[in-house]
Amino acid sequence: MRLSRVESRNVTFLDRPPPFWTDAAGSEVRDAAGSVYLDFSGAFGVAFAGHRHPVVMKRIAAQAERLVHGMGDIHPPAVKVEFLEALAGRMPWPDSRAILGLSGSDAVEAALKTARLATGRIGIIAFEGSYHGLTLGALATTHRAHFRRPFTDRLVDHVHYLPFPSSRDEAATVLDRVSDLLSPREPVRVGAVIVEPIQGRAGVRIPPGGFLAALGERARAGGALLIADEIFTGAGRTGAFLACEHEGAVPDLVCVGKALGGGMPLSACCGPAAVMDAWPPSTGEAVHTSTFLGHPLSCAGGLGFLAALEAADLVDRARRLGAWATSYLFQQLADDPLVEAVRGRGLMLGVELKGDRPAPAVTVADQLLERGLIVLPAGADGEVVELTPPATIARSDLERGLGTLVETIRSAR
Ligand SMILES: Cc1ncc(COP(=O)(O)O)c(C=O)c1O
Repeated sequence: MRLSRVESRNVTFLDRPPPFWTDAAGSEVRDAAGSVYLDFSGAFGVAFAGHRHPVVMKRIAAQAERLVHGMGDIHPPAVKVEFLEALAGRMPWPDSRAILGLSGSDAVEAALKTARLATGRIGIIAFEGSYHGLTLGALATTHRAHFRRPFTDRLVDHVHYLPFPSSRDEAATVLDRVSDLLSPREPVRVGAVIVEPIQGRAGVRIPPGGFLAALGERARAGGALLIADEIFTGAGRTGAFLACEHEGAVPDLVCVGKALGGGMPLSACCGPAAVMDAWPPSTGEAVHTSTFLGHPLSCAGGLGFLAALEAADLVDRARRLGAWATSYLFQQLADDPLVEAVRGRGLMLGVELKGDRPAPAVTVADQLLERGLIVLPAGADGEVVELTPPATIARSDLERGLGTLVETIRSAR
């Protein structure tokens, strides 16, 4: 295979040759062999506004006619200012400030650095099952051994992992542990609590109501900051622009990415001025920047994405379609002997499978691919079928895809 001769063998899984994508529009993807797929993955959740949304494409094309690369922190592209203003308007603080990045990991790195500067403390609380990215700073807060093991000696110490609660009782215990770890008696003080409002790659795990707000209160009472990693849940995915909004939780820092650029690489670490001003003013040499910061095409994609959200009220559409999809799956699958649980908020849904076979969701995802439906397996043991379709998906396509999923799970019994 051509790819295996030119790409590191760690990257693409080639035992079963994957579809090589050539085209995509809306919820549909085509591959090099001419097959057409319905994309229920939203391409890692990125295509929340669908693939190649026309409003996004128009903004990118117009920007490409004028300026493709600027000098992010030195001679900033004008479109960076426009995008930052639009993004600030979506954040829960009146004086939001941001550091832009290109990947989710970039945003998490910036948030962890910000918390270190703002609190002067190096300890971090993270959660079992967490996924915050694979760059070294972010990786130190990503839980799964698969990613960490080869690099343990490169990861910062003083990260405490607590269970991610699924019930109120568990939440109460975890919150008490948080308060204990924040105690002044701890030899290394904790400055950051980083949490996914819904754990995505761990299998769409939704904490009990009130947990995030209480976590923020405990963190602040102990002098630490709550970082909401909304890379996956943010930008509308769960039926609110930020998943924290569902329970009125206001974190101290928010990371957004994935869908934010409308398909272009774009992420941001955002916070109120009181927190973000822990960074010193630039004296001409920013202490945290990168070559492509505020990339003009990404910022144009981001502006197009935010405009597309508004034009079709996609956040509310995600809420409505998601509520319908979750209850449909629940009705169809709750009593299925292979199904452990159905979970969902907005268009972030998970069907957890019981498995005497290993990684049952991997098998289901493979079977669905053959039937023209793209889904991704999630969960530590590949036990959850994760569904994050575009919010622009036609209701008939959503019904068709969910019907195929239900049939496939039933026939796998
Ligand atoms: C919650 C969360 N944080 C961070 C990341 C890392 O983002 P990226 O892969 O763009 O670096 C991801 C990626 O899946 C994620 O789901």
